[in-house]
Amino acid sequence: MAVYIINGEQFEAQEGESIMEVGRRNGAHQGFICSGRGFCTYCECKVVEGAEYLNPVTGTEKARLSPERLESGSRLACRSAITGPNGTVSVVTRAEKIKRQFVGIFTAPTLERKNNNLLDLASSIVQVSVDGITILPFVLGGITSGKVKPKTLNPLNGLGSLVRDGQKVLSHQLGLDHPAEKK
Ligand code: FES
Repeated sequence: MAVYIINGEQFEAQEGESIMEVGRRNGAHQGFICSGRGFCTYCECKVVEGAEYLNPVTGTEKARLSPERLESGSRLACRSAITGPNGTVSVVTRAEKIKRQFVGIFTAPTLERKNNNLLDLASSIVQVSVDGITILPFVLGGITSGKVKPKTLNPLNGLGSLVRDGQKVLSHQLGLDHPAEKK
């Protein structure tokens, strides 16, 4: 059986399904602003275990994530899929990491750890901002080279599923949905 553990929650997957597809289906806490088009990087996650069960790092990931981030286990959830019928892949999403840093400012047991969470959060926000700024040159480069079709950039494409899945994530995070099946 193929399994993704996303932020500590376990979800069954089919061979070839991306982390993002399974996460969205189950309301896992992850970002997906560009709806899987591969340029926002908001779906970035860190693979904690089972990287060997995923497809090799794609060209899009190499273009959007620095070598240091890739080296430390970062992947784009919309570009990473389990390649066989079995295997367990455990990840922590960037959205969840930022949430934990924010919560940690208030809940860490010592002032030093609260401060560390604050600094980590500031660094994460800077990174998200930088990634946001670099969308435009990446997209323009893609269009110029013919790798990105202008019609795929239509913000209305997939808007319905973006809103629906966003609501699903919110409901799940607030505990308003039926708990995802835990294995
Ligand atoms: S959802 Fe935007 S890069 Fe993956």
